[in-house]
Amino acid sequence: MTWHAAIATIMPDMFPGPLGHSLSGRALDQGLWTLSAIDMRDFATDRHKSVDDTPAGGGAGMVMRPDIVAAGVDAASALVPDAPQIYLSPRGEPLTQVLAHELAAGPGVMLLCGRFEGVDQRVIDARELREVSIGDYVLSGGEMAAYVLLDAVVRLLPGVIGAASSLDEESFENGLLEYPQYTRPRAWEGHSIPDVLLSGDHKKIAAWRRAQSETLTRTRRPDLINGKKALPTT
Ligand code: ADE
Repeated sequence: MTWHAAIATIMPDMFPGPLGHSLSGRALDQGLWTLSAIDMRDFATDRHKSVDDTPAGGGAGMVMRPDIVAAGVDAASALVPDAPQIYLSPRGEPLTQVLAHELAAGPGVMLLCGRFEGVDQRVIDARELREVSIGDYVLSGGEMAAYVLLDAVVRLLPGVIGAASSLDEESFENGLLEYPQYTRPRAWEGHSIPDVLLSGDHKKIAAWRRAQSETLTRTRRPDLINGKKALPTT
């Protein structure tokens, strides 16, 4: 079975959007993954096709109704029955490379994209949705977060990136940020490529890269060094 992304949204026209381009777009064309966008408005019951209502207890904004969201989530989940069910939300656990690998190893994902002030808590509880955030900022809806999550996962699917080894040394894959890269020309605006990279000594090059990775990680992201989960080695 092909890896499948089923998306519950009120903006189905946003998909595949940027995912239809470049690496993920080529993989979509090749059938290495598939995508369906379920329009939650199809489950609205009134004349205006409304999906939201005012918050219980008062306050600003609108909240997505549990009955309509649940119908959309159930329709989307039925397309990937054994896949994780994720609600994209700034309150969720952080999206990490570890989670991207975990999702890529499964049959696919159901993504609920909220709008407005969020969705009624009862649907999150009743469907046991896993909340995932792409960062500590607030987007106007989950659709952009879905792009980010799917881009991170799809590139890990078998066959999407030709040489799997090009993934091995990327940032986060070994718990460190990636070392700096260089290419021709050898001298540019008075700056040359570090000599070691032109030495042909592969042991020395590997040691230099490792040291660069460690220094970068220590200075920019000390949190990655202190007690983060390791990635699977496969
Ligand atoms: N929806 C709104 N903001 C979000 C975020 N930071 N991550 C995931 N989904 C969101």
